[in-house]
Amino acid sequence: KRLLPLFAGMALLLSACGREDLSALRPQGPVAEGQLGLIKLSISIMVVVMLIVFGIAGYVWVKFRRKPGQNEMPKQVEGNFKLEVIWTAIPLLLVIVLAVVTVQKVFAYAEDYSNDKNAVKVKVTSHLFWWEFSYPDYGITTAQDMIIPTGKKIALELKTADVLHSFWVPSLAGKTDTNTDGTVNNAWLEASKEGVYLGKCAELCGPSHAYMEFKVKAVSQESFDKWAQAMKAPVQTIEDPAVAEVFKSQCLSCHAIGDQGGPLGPNLTGIGSRETVASILHNSEASGKPSDGKPVKDNLVQWLSDPQAVKPGNKMPDPKKDLGLSDAQIEAIADYLANSKLSY
Ligand code: CUA
Repeated sequence: KRLLPLFAGMALLLSACGREDLSALRPQGPVAEGQLGLIKLSISIMVVVMLIVFGIAGYVWVKFRRKPGQNEMPKQVEGNFKLEVIWTAIPLLLVIVLAVVTVQKVFAYAEDYSNDKNAVKVKVTSHLFWWEFSYPDYGITTAQDMIIPTGKKIALELKTADVLHSFWVPSLAGKTDTNTDGTVNNAWLEASKEGVYLGKCAELCGPSHAYMEFKVKAVSQESFDKWAQAMKAPVQTIEDPAVAEVFKSQCLSCHAIGDQGGPLGPNLTGIGSRETVASILHNSEASGKPSDGKPVKDNLVQWLSDPQAVKPGNKMPDPKKDLGLSDAQIEAIADYLANSKLSY
């Protein structure tokens, strides 16, 4: 009975992992499968080595233990050339095997497929504490949810806008650093089936590092094309002219929606159909499950009312304290953004 709360807690934790996949042990594409292969190979080698070493040690402990009445010094051995060669050669061989396959895969998964006609090119830029995804062949930029078609190579070009971060989608591929020296890292991934795959920043980067999540949403090619079209469709403006003016002067100086606004903050086009607001406030409408977070408008109100409470250290000015927005204005802007939905 005392274990009941523990089990309940575990069940709760596990249920939270329901919708998105976050496990390198459940690969959902060729890159993650290859990486799991490496994990399996190295663990197998480790287990075999461990069994042999423990086996020999156990045998020696039993066989050469001190028996009753045995009081003289055992035979003193200074070294054994043959044995030493053997136990140097075997680990060396194992390390070479591991190194060869690992280096092979490291280069294979960092291959630049951006010129591949069949690949979809995505430029990934990490920011404190959010992710930007640009599709140069489509003229689209989005944030937080990377939409990809299934069964296609996604050619990634990764860089950072500020500090060192690392791009990691455990069930698809990982990890690739986004470097601060201006170098662009290449990587690729592919999702075998449709689904929402959870991505994480895998490099300690600041107070909200743990909240620097993103999603990879794999959809059919048809849906992907629809999404790309919808991203470029003209967006509605806010009806109330006063709120529209505040939105334009305060929000659009950093954020973009449709073809208006700036590139400093996350692009807001279609934010109403994203999986989350601010990467951690789950959108119950996107998942279709009321238990999975809150309606996107409530999340937006929460975020806009106190962004530092949600994601400490983020760079957005506080709409109330810094920009002087009223609750009613926040409500109206949240309502407008929540209705910026894309069907695909
Ligand atoms: Cu970005 Cu940790």
